[in-house]
Amino acid sequence: MSASAQMTAVVQHSFGAPEVLTLGQAVRPVPLPTEVLVRVHAAGVNPVDWQTRAGSGVAWALGEPPFTLGWDVSGVVEEVGFGVTTLAPGDEVYGMPWFPRAAGGYAEFVTAPSRQFARKPRSITHEQAAAVPLAALTAWQSLIDTAHVQPGQRVLVTAAAGGVGHFAVQIARHLGAHVIGTARSARHDWLAGLGAGQLIDYTTVAFEDVLAGANAGAGAGAGVDVVLDLAGDARENTSTRSLTVLRPGGLLIAVPGGVSPELAAAADAAGVRATPFLVEPDGAALARIAELIDAGTIRVEVEEVFPLAEVARAHTRGQAGRTRGKLVLLVAS
Ligand SMILES: NC(=O)c1ccc[n+]([C@@H]2O[C@H](COP(=O)([O-])OP(=O)(O)OC[C@H]3O[C@@H](n4cnc5c(N)ncnc54)[C@H](OP(=O)(O)O)[C@@H]3O)[C@@H](O)[C@H]2O)c1
Repeated sequence: MSASAQMTAVVQHSFGAPEVLTLGQAVRPVPLPTEVLVRVHAAGVNPVDWQTRAGSGVAWALGEPPFTLGWDVSGVVEEVGFGVTTLAPGDEVYGMPWFPRAAGGYAEFVTAPSRQFARKPRSITHEQAAAVPLAALTAWQSLIDTAHVQPGQRVLVTAAAGGVGHFAVQIARHLGAHVIGTARSARHDWLAGLGAGQLIDYTTVAFEDVLAGANAGAGAGAGVDVVLDLAGDARENTSTRSLTVLRPGGLLIAVPGGVSPELAAAADAAGVRATPFLVEPDGAALARIAELIDAGTIRVEVEEVFPLAEVARAHTRGQAGRTRGKLVLLVAS
């Protein structure tokens, strides 16, 4: 293969609405030593994709267009660079390489360091596997590596029905936590089946009102240990509102918006902790997550799979903010 071989990719030439996403040609990448070249079967779609497309998200890391979006991929190793010993051509892998730098996942091929991938869960399809990495790693790294959730702790997950939320409910439950989720009532049976012990319909009641009542009944020391806030202060002020439901010393992980100086001051005043969070590539965690998927402990919800050519429609759907689980692009069948 010559270094300038072409491949199909979604390329955008300007920031803007979903229509800036166009199917075109890009240079097929070549793996450096320690990297693998992966033939992409499916690519997951995440909020950071449509945020970055429009010029926010991690546009600061990608720079000016043209570029190719996409971080979540599932596919087959095509070629390995010098020094790679843990993967070989033909291996089925999934991963979220390079984040927050560009990975170019909406394309036929990606290259990335081999250890940013893991073997794809055997029990699910590439379309399902592509739905996993960014959302599940966010739940994993926040609940396990950041909050160190322990059996018996109470964990509140806002926006529990979304991509990150549905994994967070399952991972927190797997850790032995009592999981409280916010979601519209149509999602409650499904989320209870994933392990949520208490569900609050955020469209009809404020979660702090429900939990304040429960805390009053439970006496001193009540309150949740960890809030994994996936809605955010930009969406209904959920980070700031959640400070009142934490136990003294409890932890808020403010996933979408981080911790503003005002939120930090309010957390201090309330005697609780608040931290920002940004997901990182993590092949070792993806290997553990694959084991849990193959064991049936974690289930993957894909709401819809779109052909790559319909990427604009996938973004329009996603940014409406109502997705149950995940949206995925089919790159190669
Ligand atoms: N910092 C990081 O590293 C990082 C990583 C991943 C994601 N994020 C951010 O985290 C957020 C969640 O990501 P995601 O992939 O889970 O998003 P998503 O899949 O698009 O979330 C969609 C879900 O949000 C729910 N929702 C919307 N508004 C809500 C509210 N006010 N209260 C409760 N639920 C609400 C909807 O539930 P209903 O259908 O029940 O309305 C829907 O199921 C996004 O802002 C994303 O950018 C940050």
